[in-house]
Amino acid sequence: MHKIAVMPGDGTGPEVVEEGLKVLAAAAERFGFKYETTDYDFGGDRYLRTGETLPDSAIDELREHDAIFLGAIGHPDVKPGILEREILLKARFALDQYINLRPVKLYPGVETPVKDKGPADIDFVVVRENTEGLYVGAGGFLKQGTPDEVAIQESINTRKGAERCIRYAFEYCRKRGKENNLTLCGKTNVLNYAHDMWQRAFDDVAKEYEDISTDYAHVDAICMWFVKNPEWFDVIVTDNMFGDIITDLGAMIQGGMGIAAGGNINPEGVSMFEPIGGSAPKYTGQNVINPLAAIGAAGMMLEVLGEDEAAAAIDAAIGYVTAEKLESLAVGKTGYSTTEIGDLVADHVRGE
Ligand code: IPM
Ligand code: MN
Repeated sequence: MHKIAVMPGDGTGPEVVEEGLKVLAAAAERFGFKYETTDYDFGGDRYLRTGETLPDSAIDELREHDAIFLGAIGHPDVKPGILEREILLKARFALDQYINLRPVKLYPGVETPVKDKGPADIDFVVVRENTEGLYVGAGGFLKQGTPDEVAIQESINTRKGAERCIRYAFEYCRKRGKENNLTLCGKTNVLNYAHDMWQRAFDDVAKEYEDISTDYAHVDAICMWFVKNPEWFDVIVTDNMFGDIITDLGAMIQGGMGIAAGGNINPEGVSMFEPIGGSAPKYTGQNVINPLAAIGAAGMMLEVLGEDEAAAAIDAAIGYVTAEKLESLAVGKTGYSTTEIGDLVADHVRGE
């Protein structure tokens, strides 16, 4: 029995989560696994009502689950940063979800803005470190609000943190079995401490994986290659900030935020899966948002829960729907409503 905590969150989050759950139910029916869900209403509305974001007691409850399925966090009436830091980042840090796994896959029939590239060219995975770097919130102000103000934002990198992320990336690359190539993405020419350590950790761990070839790309160059030669990449490992940035670019070349899914993974603990786009509040309640990213996140969740067959079936069903059904992935232009897209994927997963 898989115990899944569901946090639909804000804006269109609940609508896309609903479709993810619909597909999950179809997969359970077809592949015969059991699960139960607990709902949590953390997000902007609850914060505005009660002042509460994600209390420590909730973290303890989340720990009792096998996985978390998250919709989206972000509310137009809440100052940017509060919900992101106190809900999303708090969960990632408190549950030590040290991997942010972000596949960049162009499904068949999906339009990419990159000219002359197709599904065979755009199919790689970014392993983003998820608990360190610039995201730790270390630093401070001196003389705040004066002309002499100083703002310090420190990037904290530990050997342990880099190494466990790099080791995960090597293991993932081996399991994926595609090109058996892992690229380290950094900025070693400038970040002469942090990325020097990352490079050394990478080179040391690489010795344990002789079956995996390795290379290195600076973060600015990788942005260029994502557009020019995305087919060069198999698995990429990088730090938290760079991973954040390059995966938005990745989402664009795979057809947009409507299809980009991600997993915040603690391989030894509770992982959390989410569509990586935002809450898109202006489309709330209109049944027009494309739920494929949330459905993809549900599929990733099943893979981490050990339901490999079900995960593969969901992935195939997404590809079927993009290839055979949807006219576009753009909001309002798919030719189907949110719930209809969920039905199409669920039917295919059920084998109908
Ligand atoms: C993401 C988001 C978050 C991040 C924000 C909302 C804090 O952009 O999941 O990529 O920067 O990690
Ligand atoms: Mn981001």
